[in-house]
Amino acid sequence: MDQKPSRTPRHDRGLPEAAVPGPFGPGLVRGGYWNLANAWIPPHQATSQHIAGIYPFVADSGLGHRGPILGVDLNADALWHFSPWEAYVDSSERGTFSTNILVLGAYRGGKSATVKTLVTRSIAFGHQVVVPSDPKGEWVAVAEAIPGGRVIRLGGGTGTRLNPLDRGPRRTGTTDEQHEQMVKQRRIGTLIALIEMTLGARLSAVEHAALLDALDRCILRTDDHPTLRGVFEELGEIAGETDAAFHAAEGAIQPRFVLRRLVEGDLSGLFEDESTVEFDQEAPIVVTDTSELFARGDLAAQLTQVCSTAWIQAVISDRAAHRTRYVVREEGWRDMTSLSSLQMFQQWLKLSRHYGISNIVILHKMGDLDAVGDEGSLERSLAYSIVGDIENKFIFRVNSQEQTALRTRLNLPAPHVEMARHLRKGEFLAYVGQYSYLVDCFATSTEWEYELFATDDALAPADRDDSDFRAIDAAMLDTLWPETREMETGIEGWLTAGPRENTEEQ
Ligand SMILES: Nc1ncnc2c1ncn2[C@@H]1O[C@H](COP(=O)(O)OP(=O)(O)OP(=O)(O)O)[C@@H](O)[C@H]1O
Ligand SMILES: [Mg+2]
Repeated sequence: MDQKPSRTPRHDRGLPEAAVPGPFGPGLVRGGYWNLANAWIPPHQATSQHIAGIYPFVADSGLGHRGPILGVDLNADALWHFSPWEAYVDSSERGTFSTNILVLGAYRGGKSATVKTLVTRSIAFGHQVVVPSDPKGEWVAVAEAIPGGRVIRLGGGTGTRLNPLDRGPRRTGTTDEQHEQMVKQRRIGTLIALIEMTLGARLSAVEHAALLDALDRCILRTDDHPTLRGVFEELGEIAGETDAAFHAAEGAIQPRFVLRRLVEGDLSGLFEDESTVEFDQEAPIVVTDTSELFARGDLAAQLTQVCSTAWIQAVISDRAAHRTRYVVREEGWRDMTSLSSLQMFQQWLKLSRHYGISNIVILHKMGDLDAVGDEGSLERSLAYSIVGDIENKFIFRVNSQEQTALRTRLNLPAPHVEMARHLRKGEFLAYVGQYSYLVDCFATSTEWEYELFATDDALAPADRDDSDFRAIDAAMLDTLWPETREMETGIEGWLTAGPRENTEEQ
């Protein structure tokens, strides 16, 4: 490498002959360009570690290559691999302290498709995928396309029942205080959430006590197999015990009315008795399709989500399973309306690492959480803090109204927020531990994935077929043209100009 490159004669390079012999151009005597000598820089050799020091800001080294590829890191122009468990066990500065992921972004930003990409590619790594409630039924196709995938359909005459008060797998060995606590809290939390959601108000102390009492009695009577029907019946008995504890009897009335809807009313046959399905621990993906119930209105949707999520959480809270799982919460905010459901969720997020679970919470905007409680209420601030505390975040394109929320609630730097406004479909800002990345997920999609994850049914090309219009001749076209109105030029015309013209004038 220490030989000089051979020189090409000047006329071969289309250059004028030198006015003075030598490597200098005519500029030396006439002004203008001056030195036409080839720059000769001896090549430099060094190890890649030192070379990286010469160009410190050009490319980020990324998260390494453990875990499935999720997209292209647009800052480094390299493939971006991600697995929350790998990031969790990573003790370097790139690691994280939590396996949960918040996915936030405007409608049609590609959130679901990216999550589907992540989880389906993770199946090969041995992780299981669980969708406790699929409100749009969009995960069904994914589960059906994966060999061994399971779909639990709720409603629509399928006769499937899930018991939200299920205990879940009972573990052998020493009793685990924390687990017992969790089962208890989940059961009472589920009951309170169902009742507060329907009433739209907090339970009074007496009602709370009556409900707890009914649950305890039911657990005793059924040998730890409580059901909503059982609790409903116990509440009936408590309400009848007017002489013994008058106040408790009074407190049993309201909760009993609410549970009646689930036992005898329009939501009966779904959640009030023992479960009719078993959770398949071995399946690569399990999806609970709740789309039929979501079509019945907001309250039915919320109650369904509470019940199906409680059941799924019960059956997967198993440390002995030695299985890592993704739990995908589509419409993650829906059932976070009461204080008890929020506390339950917070507890769940904290404990899930124990169970080898990574929760993926999908939100459209931080403003979704404004549906929780009143302004300044405990509920709302708890909701914001739960979401804000999720350490790993995927931020998709956001609307301009969302900018302040991202800065104040999630502490994102202003340039990132600006960037988040201009992301394209499938692009997102990934925050993993202390580091952030700009990733394009769709750049790595296969055709199979694209077909499977597409949710644009309403805009299918068949619907946009315009061949009829192409065959139209000019005469026909004229008949379709909107009639032109006489131009109003008088003073009346100006005074009666439409609002649009007025605003344009201003
Ligand atoms: N792999 C892919 N490559 C390119 N485009 C895709 C891919 N997967 C999905 N899309 C398209 O991206 C669009 C948005 O997808 P997606 O449903 O994931 O958005 P979303 O953010 O979840 O929307 P919503 O807020 O309605 O839930 C869909 O129109 C879909 O067809
Ligand atoms: Mg979606």
